[in-house]
Amino acid sequence: MSAVFSPAWRQLESHRNDLIGTRISDLFEVHPNRGPEMTIEYDGVVLDYSKNLVTAATIDSLVRLAEERQLAAGIEAMFGGANLNLTEGRAVLHTALRAPAHAVVEVDGHNVIPDIQRVLERMEQFAAAVRSGRWHGATGKRIRAVVNIGIGGSDLGPAMAYQALREHASDALEVRYVSNIDGHDLARALHGLDPATTLFVVSSKTFTTVETLTNARAAREWLLAAVGDPAAVARHFVAVSANAREVAAFGIDPGNMFEFWDWVGGRYSLWSAIGLSVMIAIGPEGFRQLLAGAHSMDRHFRTAPLAGNIPVLLGLLGVWYRNFWDAQTQAVLPYDQRLSRLPAYLQQLDMESNGKSIDRDGRAVAMGTAPIVWGEPGTNGQHAFFQLLHQGTVFVPCDFIGVLKPDHGLAEHHDLLMANLFAQTEALAFGGPEPDGPSELRAHRRFPGDRPSNTILLASLTPYLLGQVIALYEHKVFTQGWIWGVNSFDQWGVELGKVLATRIFEEIVAEDESKHDSSTNALIGRYRLARNTGGRHRKVGN
Ligand code: F6P
Repeated sequence: MSAVFSPAWRQLESHRNDLIGTRISDLFEVHPNRGPEMTIEYDGVVLDYSKNLVTAATIDSLVRLAEERQLAAGIEAMFGGANLNLTEGRAVLHTALRAPAHAVVEVDGHNVIPDIQRVLERMEQFAAAVRSGRWHGATGKRIRAVVNIGIGGSDLGPAMAYQALREHASDALEVRYVSNIDGHDLARALHGLDPATTLFVVSSKTFTTVETLTNARAAREWLLAAVGDPAAVARHFVAVSANAREVAAFGIDPGNMFEFWDWVGGRYSLWSAIGLSVMIAIGPEGFRQLLAGAHSMDRHFRTAPLAGNIPVLLGLLGVWYRNFWDAQTQAVLPYDQRLSRLPAYLQQLDMESNGKSIDRDGRAVAMGTAPIVWGEPGTNGQHAFFQLLHQGTVFVPCDFIGVLKPDHGLAEHHDLLMANLFAQTEALAFGGPEPDGPSELRAHRRFPGDRPSNTILLASLTPYLLGQVIALYEHKVFTQGWIWGVNSFDQWGVELGKVLATRIFEEIVAEDESKHDSSTNALIGRYRLARNTGGRHRKVGN
């Protein structure tokens, strides 16, 4: 049955109508203890969802919707290796990557856990060798810089996690990330590096992604221009991929390849060998902690009752705003500079997973799906776009994320940071007192409040807790995709642009006539003119 016409959906519609005119402040007046009552704590993660436009009845109805949609069965199907990615004929088993070594998870009758552990052990040996200097460059020098070349899920996860965990990373190694086909990205990443002490990790599930292969080829040329001997590639390039054939075709020794599998989606692949650069940075034990944290959240998602289940609740609250209050966007506001790449990571996770208008049965969906996810760390955002959050005409539910204990000794900074986080959620929910002063300014200075937010607090930002929070959002996205009935694990919407870009690239380099619409033809023409006049190339890396 389509979610739209289900009894719980109808009940939520009528409940929404009943709530029109009720303010968040009214809800706190009726239930003064609502803050603690609407807080869930699990293994170092706290979710306070009290500053939402919800009552206990709302939560009951949302849980009923999840039950009607058989969310619990969906969760079990995912963990059990069912073929949930229907359009690509694949299981969805990123959770197996962080399962304990003794677990049994089967895909087509084959237990995948020993394969996962085998690759993890190889990664650990390699990471330890790079960190200790046992793995060295072709000229015998110690590796000082690791450059991960990948894009999308082969970049955003490790890049975000490395930023988050730099305080846990080795000072002896610099880790950089290159993703964009824009050559400035590679040129900047290579700037100042010594080829003799640089290791490239080429990360691509398919190993056919144009951006990654183009960057990897240019990096190889950069290396060979300095060290000369093609045999050096074996000491300076390793690959992470699910496609051994393409890795070999590229010229990377399969012995230097770390494998993962087609049942790991790109945006869910941080836990696989795609995390190699992070493991080299923070060490094998730190990476095991990241996996353990994610596994802890997996256990919570799988076993906690729906009404006390953090990812389920976050997902249902998102459905509530997206479908019953027409919220088009969702802000994610980490009050921690180390999480500065989390919003970008969550954009891919959420929007590539659930930005769909066709359901699992191939029919048009009848309701809104993934919101636009965006955000910046606090307090920077406060001095930029918070004006709109407080007084604009767009309704933006927000997730605030704070970390109780920082990894620096600047106590006043942290007190101020956390004070700002709490102040913002308070101001958004309750608004301000009626302004005084000149009457003509009062309307401008009024803070209406009644703008909802969740607050997520982490005990600290360790690999373990980072693992938890990423898995939390993965499962939130799963919950929503399941409710909306879409396949959260394919991404057909990215294909057309790739095909057209290849065609236009071929036209540009072959100087062929452009056969597109008049706008595209004219734009290509302008580029051709600029391309063919004047010198434009500088040497990469200088
Ligand atoms: O184009 C989108 C996408 O397929 C993402 O889903 C994926 O994370 C990214 O490209 C990179 O793919 P790959 O790891 O195969 O290079």
